Amino acid sequence: MPPLERHALLRSVSHEHHEALVFCWRLRKALEHGADPTEQMGPAVDFYHRRLLPHFAIEEEVVFPVLGALDPQVKRAIAEHRRLTRLFLSKGDPLSTLSRIEDELQAHVRFEERLLFPRIQAVATEQQLERIDRMHGLLTGV
Ligand SMILES: [Fe+2]
Ligand SMILES: [Fe+2]
Repeated sequence: MPPLERHALLRSVSHEHHEALVFCWRLRKALEHGADPTEQMGPAVDFYHRRLLPHFAIEEEVVFPVLGALDPQVKRAIAEHRRLTRLFLSKGDPLSTLSRIEDELQAHVRFEERLLFPRIQAVATEQQLERIDRMHGLLTGV
């Protein structure tokens, strides 16, 4: 099933993937056009706290459990959340940190959209999908 035909209740989570890809695209353009990496770091950390952290929480609390913690792709996704968190909170060189964030966040979203979400959608019960929707509403106010 192509990503756009996502079940209605997974659409809200998929919409955040689109937002993350737009964030990556803007960041890449800014860096290519010579923006000061130190100045880009603040907005990036803000995006992480406001948008990405709640998104990771929803995935880990209610989306990934559909497949279970032992699933290798779920393990990979959780490890990537930890790694992205370390990068966003890193005090290292801003240019190399932001380049890695851009690269790894994009790869993470594509992995979830192309491989993980289609599998979750295929096996999730109505009840599980409703739980995802409720949790999404609670955490994002949407
Ligand atoms: Fe994720
Ligand atoms: Fe995600």
